[in-house]
Amino acid sequence: MDNRAIGVFDSGVGGLTVLQEIIKTVPDENTIYFGDTERVPYGPRDLNEVKKFVFKITRFLYGKDVKLIVIACNTSTAAALKDLKKQYDIPIIGVIEPGARTAVYNTKNKRIGVIATKGTVESKAYPDEIAKIDPEIKIFSVPAPLLVDFIERGILEGNFLDEAIHGYLKPLFDAEIDVLILGCTHFPLIEKRILSCSGNGIKVISSAVETAKDVKKILTEKGLCTAGKKKPERIFYETGMASNFFDVGKMFLGEEIKEVIRTKLDI
Ligand code: DGL
Repeated sequence: MDNRAIGVFDSGVGGLTVLQEIIKTVPDENTIYFGDTERVPYGPRDLNEVKKFVFKITRFLYGKDVKLIVIACNTSTAAALKDLKKQYDIPIIGVIEPGARTAVYNTKNKRIGVIATKGTVESKAYPDEIAKIDPEIKIFSVPAPLLVDFIERGILEGNFLDEAIHGYLKPLFDAEIDVLILGCTHFPLIEKRILSCSGNGIKVISSAVETAKDVKKILTEKGLCTAGKKKPERIFYETGMASNFFDVGKMFLGEEIKEVIRTKLDI
């Protein structure tokens, strides 16, 4: 038994979609969430710069004595997961492998689309993961940076959003995909809009559910589950000063975020 918290982080509010699934799957676990809202978005940045931020956040969470870290951000996973794993003695998982695995399981025509940030698309992290499972699958990836902007500003519906979604998805529909990976943890916040803009028969995948299942599996296998006697503690940190963390968080976490601790990363 281990009552230490699970650490979860993202560049902003998007990782709350992953935290939500983790809370559903292992409700008794204490959690610490970190949103780097001062530096969001990570997607357009150079991956080496993102890697630097990710290393700082990981050190911060490790300093809070977490027992497992979930990188709830595709761009950060693409930039740093492999290197981070080598340096820490606690389990660290990302969101790309679980999403890739689910997509492979669901495609029938072996044509998978990915919408993600520029960084994630350029890293080729999804095609690499998918090729490890089934090298015959064709991947079509599109960077969709405007969608992150909409979400961080709390715009989750409306004509402008729908037009942007249509524009990004068109080349993927033209490529006749049958599975679409939401390769950015912000995108489940607009999943309804994406579903309504998607053609019939296209399965939309977000990695949050599979990632949460992996969390449970690791905790169980490594004997790290909490004794769970007390109400779990939920702690939230952010680095920005003017984000809409409370509003978006409340909407999607299903639990009210009572307090967000403002902190700085020494960058
Ligand atoms: N949450 C990030 C991801 O999954 C996207 C937001 C950003 O660009 O920072 O890649």
